[in-house]
Amino acid sequence: MKKLLISTLLLTGSLFAQSAQEIIQDNGCLACHAVASKKAAPAFAGIGRRNKRFEGANAKEVIMASIKNGSQGKYPRFSDSAMPAFANLTQEQLSTVADYILSQSSKARGMGKGGGMGRGQGMGMGMGGGM
Ligand code: HEC
Repeated sequence: MKKLLISTLLLTGSLFAQSAQEIIQDNGCLACHAVASKKAAPAFAGIGRRNKRFEGANAKEVIMASIKNGSQGKYPRFSDSAMPAFANLTQEQLSTVADYILSQSSKARGMGKGGGMGRGQGMGMGMGGGM
């Protein structure tokens, strides 16, 4: 009995509380994006900051729409490439990821040169909430 209960909890837990990091990993976002450094695409931290500054209260919606529909030409330095559309993500997943990206905006500065973030480990639990 107990075992059944526990595995049920684990199962529902993973269904309902898919973390932003899991969504980002499962969908291959990290092939182009990094959290705090530039790769083939702007860092999530910079995206969060830019959208907060320019979109204000709409920042979250703009980010969700860009992930869902794709984006091109907003970030001049990346004008050679484009953000593909991820129409497969649910509204809830988009929301989770957008919150996560916005929560990274404070990390845009000071993390530039590869310090700080071990691969994988640092990203897992640590980054989300702790300030
Ligand atoms: C093929 C490379 C690639 C992949 C994969 C990719 N992106 Fe992007 N992304 C880009 C590029 C390039 C831009 C810059 C687009 C622009 O200049 O408008 C971008 C921009 C963005 C933006 C900013 C949009 C805005 O309105 O400010 C967000 C948010 C974003 N990506 C999230 C994601 C997420 C989440 C995933 C995974 C589900 C993902 N990206 C996967 C290349 C990629």
